[in-house]
Amino acid sequence: MTDSLLSGHDLHKAYGSTPALAGAEFTIRSGEVVAIMGPSGSGKSTLLHCLAGIVRPDSGTIRYDGRDLTAMSDGGRSALRRSDFGFVFQFGQLVPELTCLENVALPLRLNAVRRKEAEARAREWMERLEVADLARKRPGEISGGQGQRIAVARALVIRPRVVFADEPTGALDSLNGERVMQLLIGAARSTDAAIVLVTHESRIAAYSDREIVVRDGRSRDMARAA
Ligand SMILES: Nc1ncnc2c1ncn2[C@@H]1O[C@H](COP(=O)(O)OP(=O)(O)O)[C@@H](O)[C@H]1O
Ligand SMILES: [Mg+2]
Repeated sequence: MTDSLLSGHDLHKAYGSTPALAGAEFTIRSGEVVAIMGPSGSGKSTLLHCLAGIVRPDSGTIRYDGRDLTAMSDGGRSALRRSDFGFVFQFGQLVPELTCLENVALPLRLNAVRRKEAEARAREWMERLEVADLARKRPGEISGGQGQRIAVARALVIRPRVVFADEPTGALDSLNGERVMQLLIGAARSTDAAIVLVTHESRIAAYSDREIVVRDGRSRDMARAA
């Protein structure tokens, strides 16, 4: 598929004698939301980490926007992650010493955006995620659902072309989980970001355009009635 933004082909990755990926395939287009489903331990997170350039696969190829990620240096992949990718994990992984506003502004600061400009843009995203009132609070002073909204704002603040979300609602109750998903998908749609969404909940995967299932490190597409 020539119009795919990010793709992985025949990916293998083992941790010692444990095979985490054994020939996984993946492709996503610009603006598309793809859910990666499958039981615990099937290789979902490993696939996401490989696609995001965090983990180098033992073999296979990953192409992003015409570039071969597996052939890039560690420094090159780090720079690409900072400029093009956003991340949301199961537990927000916010920096506890920073205020929520500083947390959201951090990816911009790492891209050398000046503080004032970075915080103004961070504030806009916090408003969109309905958490502007938390700007001065620290992560230890807010709820799990609020923390995930801050994490989503932080992922989107650089206007990434791909958001990688690994069980982003896994620690939330269903009401908060649904709301965070709606905000994440809405924000990504409005900026044409693609979302690689790892989840084991079909209720959350239902927000995607397409689902793939990973089992024992192999992936396959799921046909879904519209
Ligand atoms: N850093 C690691 N070190 C050792 N084994 C790992 C590591 N990461 C994952 N694994 C193993 O690889 C397999 C796939 O894990 P993972 O990709 O985290 O699955 P999932 O996200 O679907 O639960 C599991 O058997 C897991 O124990
Ligand atoms: Mg996982």
